[in-house]
Amino acid sequence: MRIDILTILPRLLDGPFADSIMQRAQTKGICKIEIHNIRDFSADKHKSVDDYQFGGGAGMVMLAQPIVDAIQALSEQTIYDEIIYLTPDGETLNQSICNQFSLKQNLLLICGHYKGIDQRVRDHYITREISIGDYVLSGGELAAAVLVDAVVRLIPGVMNDETSALTDSFQDALLAPPVYTRPADFNGYKVPEVLTSGNFKAIEDWRMNEAIQKTATRRPDLLEQYNKLTE
Ligand code: ADE
Repeated sequence: MRIDILTILPRLLDGPFADSIMQRAQTKGICKIEIHNIRDFSADKHKSVDDYQFGGGAGMVMLAQPIVDAIQALSEQTIYDEIIYLTPDGETLNQSICNQFSLKQNLLLICGHYKGIDQRVRDHYITREISIGDYVLSGGELAAAVLVDAVVRLIPGVMNDETSALTDSFQDALLAPPVYTRPADFNGYKVPEVLTSGNFKAIEDWRMNEAIQKTATRRPDLLEQYNKLTE
């Protein structure tokens, strides 16, 4: 998979992909992540990337020209499956969308700032608009990092234990059950007995029951979805 990210603050994205699973995905050649500075595509002599909004009002709007020129320049090298704009008014990211994106070859992510990008870019060049939750960040970079992390770890070969992504919370519409490691007795707090019983059927049943109980208390909306799926 190839992921290109357009931003006016490339340094914000130096860290998130430089360690651990994201780094391994890149060194293994499973995923290539490239960061591009939108300012480099500005046709203006001052390298501007924003301007006042038509109609007045507080806040600047990101210019269409540098973003569209960047999209066009990158599209000469790569055919994108999706051109994704990170924005708080987009579709809320969830595990199902991450699964879909993880099957794609090439993604282009666009990070906005200020009041956002000129609507004409959204209307004519963006294929998908994604929010990572109902809160407003100061820019799309952290949202892009969240999306990339959630998607890349799903690509086969990225995780060491391939089954581990399949047992994550949300993967089957349920929250994940509790997990424990050694020692079996920590300061008098004991691990549930079933987990040390060696009875794999009983362990599986216990985990399923815990997952359902946790989902019922914390996310009844998800449990409803799960019940529909398993009807
Ligand atoms: N940009 C600012 N806030 C955002 C959010 N919640 N999701 C995606 N992009 C954003």
